[in-house]
Amino acid sequence: MRVAVVGATGAVGAVMRRLLAARAFPADEVVYFASERSAGRELDGRVVQPLRDDTIQGFDLALLSAGGGTSREWAPRFAAAGALVVDNSSAWRMDPDVPLVVSEVNPEAIDEAGKGIVANPNCTTMVVMLPAKALDTAFGLRAMVCTSFQAAGGAGQKGIDELANQVAPLAADVQQLVDDGATAARKVEHAVHANTLAFNVVPLLGKLDGNGYTDEEMKLQNESRKILALPGLEVTPTCVRVPVMVGHSIAVRATFDREPDLGEALEALRAFPNLVVDEAPTPLEWAGRDETVVGRVRRDLSDPRVLNFFVVGDNLLKGAALNTVQLGELAIERGLVGTPA
Ligand code: A2P
Repeated sequence: MRVAVVGATGAVGAVMRRLLAARAFPADEVVYFASERSAGRELDGRVVQPLRDDTIQGFDLALLSAGGGTSREWAPRFAAAGALVVDNSSAWRMDPDVPLVVSEVNPEAIDEAGKGIVANPNCTTMVVMLPAKALDTAFGLRAMVCTSFQAAGGAGQKGIDELANQVAPLAADVQQLVDDGATAARKVEHAVHANTLAFNVVPLLGKLDGNGYTDEEMKLQNESRKILALPGLEVTPTCVRVPVMVGHSIAVRATFDREPDLGEALEALRAFPNLVVDEAPTPLEWAGRDETVVGRVRRDLSDPRVLNFFVVGDNLLKGAALNTVQLGELAIERGLVGTPA
């Protein structure tokens, strides 16, 4: 079993490398790939390879997390060379011939990888999918209003670095944060996030699509429908960046076909794999943990068909690297890797 890790030098790539080792992934050889800039560099005692037709041959499994452009170009090439590709970018998620899989939610969908590519969902969608599936099975999910509180790390290492570099200059004059926030915000540079993120909240994440929603928000609608196999699911998304390093949180207002019973809902959430119920979970306390956590589960004040809850998950772990590695494990379990089609 030869496994390629593409984007090995990135924020998600670093977590994938750690997980492959920690989970004793059944690989005989793991090869790291990154851009030409990093080729030749040593990582964990291995030399980072560039993506070239001659370097990508002979892999059983390729785990890609190097951005959409790289995936569009190299996922089909890895697949043509015989590898099953698990892709963490947005490039292939909505392709009807590419399954979009959360390992606990729709594992059987991985068998439909006719193109040799399996897609890993967006990190915010991923976190919502675990409680959404648990409650859909119990009561029939009809609609969700999702308001996200997304960590800087959702934009990769550069997103983390930009926030980290803004903290000290702004913290140096707390009174200015109180009296004249606009001047404080202009003291630091921002290129990754849509505005100064330190001591702030930025309600614009991704590119505006022309319908008033961003591409990030549209992913929540489109990917949720595909993963849950609910083409008519109504999703109202608002994606917000908050000054958190790692850990996406989403406040969800979910409407069901059947009136949900609160006790039954909590039971369904507790019984769901890798989902934990906690009273009021925070992203800081759940950074670095594999489980997704849901809290503040309560009945709506006015609509008896509605439950409100708050869900938190590590965007680099379950939101990206962990699910990617779990999909690799699932592909092996289901005999999709290493056997001819
Ligand atoms: P590199 O470090 O050489 O730029 P992040 O999401 O943290 O920004 O990480 C992105 C990852 O994708 C990095 O490992 C980066 O490698 C890799 N990457 C970016 N562009 C390419 C490319 N054109 N070909 C291969 N890997 C790339």
